Amino acid sequence: MAVPKKRLAVLISGRGSNLHSILEACAQGRIAGEVVQVISNRPAAGGLAYARQAGVAHQVIDHQQYAGRESFDTALAAALNQAKAHWIVLAGFMRILTPAFVEQFQAQLLNIHPSLLPEFRGLHTHARVLAAGHAEHGASVHRVTPDLDSGPVIMQARVPVCPGDDPERLAVRVQKVEHRLYPTVLDLLCSERLILQPDGGMLLDEQSLQQPLLLPPCAEVVCP
Ligand code: GRF
Repeated sequence: MAVPKKRLAVLISGRGSNLHSILEACAQGRIAGEVVQVISNRPAAGGLAYARQAGVAHQVIDHQQYAGRESFDTALAAALNQAKAHWIVLAGFMRILTPAFVEQFQAQLLNIHPSLLPEFRGLHTHARVLAAGHAEHGASVHRVTPDLDSGPVIMQARVPVCPGDDPERLAVRVQKVEHRLYPTVLDLLCSERLILQPDGGMLLDEQSLQQPLLLPPCAEVVCP
């Protein structure tokens, strides 16, 4: 019997290029799931247009309308409970979540971060990688814990840092791999090939993993 498609709720704050890649992958059958709800904390988030175009339910929960993090997170939790999502996919969602919220949804929360975690947590990762003189950079999909960008890493994608890079050029290269990375992880989770265990461990095809998965290199991200 076919496994019913897993329900994804995607949380955004801005451009939504990762949301776009996830919607496309669902439409093309590359993710064994469907986006059932898109939520933005910013009314002007460009990514809402992708939800509209795809005919996916979307809503704004404007953090500026709430007195503090607790009341915003309570509204977000209510919306997510209504969406009955299996996976809550943070995709450029620029809000720090309260520990109470993270604890409530910990088993379902995923985030994408533009660095090879645990290196370069926080903001401005591309500029910081260049300033540090690193030869390699990338992106990580990880589980969410109350500590920012510190949850167990599920899968990473690596890109080279190229001669003449500035933060913008490097960001473009990282985003190219992000758009393959998130759909790949989501398909593994939705098809139940990849199991996330409560203690932070992972099973892939019933085998215990000792380290994060690595996305195979893609031809379009070599140096020019
Ligand atoms: C991505 O680079 C992601 O790693 C970071 O925020 C950015 C979101 O981009 N968390 P987009 O809104 O998906 O285009």
